[in-house]
Amino acid sequence: MSSGSVAPQVVRVGFVGCGGIVQGAHAPNLAQIPNVKLAACADVDKARVAEFLEKFKLNFYTDYKEMLAKEALDAVVIATPNALHAPVAIDALENGAHVLTEKPMAISLDEAVRMVEAARRRQRVLMVGHHMRFERSVQVGRKFITNGRLGKIYHIRALHLRRRGIPSTVTFLQRKYSGGGPMWDIGVHTIDATMFMTNFPKPVSVVGKVYSAFPDKAYMRMNYPVPMTSQFAYTAPMDVEDFAMGLVKFEGDLTMYIEATWATYIKEDRHEVAIMGTEGGIHYEGGSLSYIHSVDEEFITSTPLIGQQQSAYAQEDRAFIDAITKGASKAPYPACTGEQGLLDVAIIEAIYKSAESGREERISIPQSILDSMGW
Ligand SMILES: NC(=O)c1ccc[n+]([C@@H]2O[C@H](COP(=O)([O-])OP(=O)(O)OC[C@H]3O[C@@H](n4cnc5c(N)ncnc54)[C@H](O)[C@@H]3O)[C@@H](O)[C@H]2O)c1
Repeated sequence: MSSGSVAPQVVRVGFVGCGGIVQGAHAPNLAQIPNVKLAACADVDKARVAEFLEKFKLNFYTDYKEMLAKEALDAVVIATPNALHAPVAIDALENGAHVLTEKPMAISLDEAVRMVEAARRRQRVLMVGHHMRFERSVQVGRKFITNGRLGKIYHIRALHLRRRGIPSTVTFLQRKYSGGGPMWDIGVHTIDATMFMTNFPKPVSVVGKVYSAFPDKAYMRMNYPVPMTSQFAYTAPMDVEDFAMGLVKFEGDLTMYIEATWATYIKEDRHEVAIMGTEGGIHYEGGSLSYIHSVDEEFITSTPLIGQQQSAYAQEDRAFIDAITKGASKAPYPACTGEQGLLDVAIIEAIYKSAESGREERISIPQSILDSMGW
């Protein structure tokens, strides 16, 4: 698809980077949608994707630019190592394709801005793969907050902590591929879900710190002690940190403390967000939600009865295709737009800048993005 914005009847999808998340989620999910044609895949490692190619009967390319030039794709799903998300997305958008990129959207604010500009210029969907937004618990949390059930929100405490889960793939462990460690990898999901629940407060400044506590400890890697291939060796060299934290200040007297780690000496893994307001609180924990409030001066914890109906990843892929077939320039609520994904990137970039400078770092978001957020 090269120009114009007429919605296609059949959406021809190509993948760039066909590893774990494409094979485990995007491809099987998209294959279930009737008007989707899985057409092609580009990956630098043919051996790794051989079975996948056979299963889905895809045309294969080692160079994604050749795929974009030859395949007349309506949509491209990007699931390469993080550092390639932005350049591949910009090429795909410029080529006229709609883009669903895996998180993090980019590894710098500057790149994220250029992605949004390309999507706007070409009038194409740019969506970021933040599946937590499709968790019912997160959506109920957002509803309660939007309806004022928490009163004035003043502080958020967000934790995304693994005890012994440093990835084994070299592309997660080295800055040139990943941009950084667990804040870019898992913390970004939690930041995004929190921004979504709290209706996108405007981030103003950040104090951050990162630590490399276990760069040489094979036993802190996720797959230890299973013998691994060279690509998944738990001994692969690591130059990113394994722990990061930030204190984010937002406009309107709101703060968020966020901690993300791949490995640390704690008693159990924790994935939780506590949102504290003057009339109530939300506690998200690993997919479930509690609402803490008071009734007749009694302190009460309530939990919604209706849980997740369909996988969050499947809903995410469906939202992307819906936007394309309906001729929209943005994926529908609750999908993550490029403008919103950019805010997560801005916060994380500032955490790393602050860790380096030792100072509080201000976040400066371009005016065109501020306008689109209604700030
Ligand atoms: N949303 C989620 O919950 C979730 C889960 C897992 C991964 N992810 C994200 O998805 C992305 C991929 O993660 P993964 O776990 O699938 O990794 P992976 O290592 O399994 O797959 C990445 C693939 O990209 C390929 N690749 C590398 N360079 C390439 C290039 N220049 N052109 C084409 N292909 C290239 C690799 O050969 C590999 O097959 C990462 O950004 C990660 O953060 C998101």
